[in-house]
Amino acid sequence: MKGVVLAGGLGTRLLPLTRITNKHLLAVYDQPMIYYPIQKLAQAGIQDVIIVTGGNSSGDFLRLLRNGKEFGLRRLHYTYQEGEGGIAEALGLVEEFAEGERVVVILGDNIFQDDLTPYIKSYEKQKQGAKILLKEVPYPERFGVAELQNNKIIKIIEKPKQPKSNYAVTGIYMYDQEVFSVIKTLKPSDRGELEITDVNNYYLGKNTLTYDVLPGWWADAGTSFAAYFRAITLIRDLRLKKVDSKNKDSSIAK
Ligand code: DAU
Repeated sequence: MKGVVLAGGLGTRLLPLTRITNKHLLAVYDQPMIYYPIQKLAQAGIQDVIIVTGGNSSGDFLRLLRNGKEFGLRRLHYTYQEGEGGIAEALGLVEEFAEGERVVVILGDNIFQDDLTPYIKSYEKQKQGAKILLKEVPYPERFGVAELQNNKIIKIIEKPKQPKSNYAVTGIYMYDQEVFSVIKTLKPSDRGELEITDVNNYYLGKNTLTYDVLPGWWADAGTSFAAYFRAITLIRDLRLKKVDSKNKDSSIAK
């Protein structure tokens, strides 16, 4: 299985922070935002990863991440998305890189507390199709939302005004090689993007979309200043707790 981190798009929701740099290069506490999704893939044993960049300062990704050895990767690849045609468009750019293998895709602004290894391992055992991970959230209307009936997903709706559940679709997606032909059939949505939600609904229609619900916290750090700040505080708490348990004296950490 190969890994894909999507870091295209213009990051306009964090202007002016993103006027002279790329959103995914901004600091989230002690690391650049893009480190977190790469580390999650590496932790799950994914060795070949491609980053889709775009927008401002795309050359800086290479200077920052180099060949990926620091993350324990065998190889780190790069490609470039022109404009902001959507998550599915960005994913469509990595077809050659995938070489017919399955892919695990993480959005470059998503930070997960949980180790994703068990979910990726369970997808590897799945015969075909796709897998997504949901998280219960207080404001689901900001995300893709899964409508559930008897623990089955009925439909996924992108940023619904009146969400039918509190289960957001998080920014990690696992797909078989069919995904690239599905993307070629998509039409742009009202916001002018090829929507990953349409890809997921395609698999749902074929009864080959599975899901799990994440127990730990999840941060979509790029959607607003509030979400960005929340991600920073979550990582800070994580780091300080580690220092606390090591040192016993919590005042050292503060
Ligand atoms: O974070 C989870 C949510 O991400 C899902 O619940 C939604 O279903 C999904 O559509 C997406 O929503 P957002 O509106 O938050 O996506 P955003 O435009 O912020 O893009 C998220 C990441 O995807 C961004 O950090 C970089 C990458 N991206 C995005 C676009 C639009 C690209 O690489 N290229 C693009 O053209």
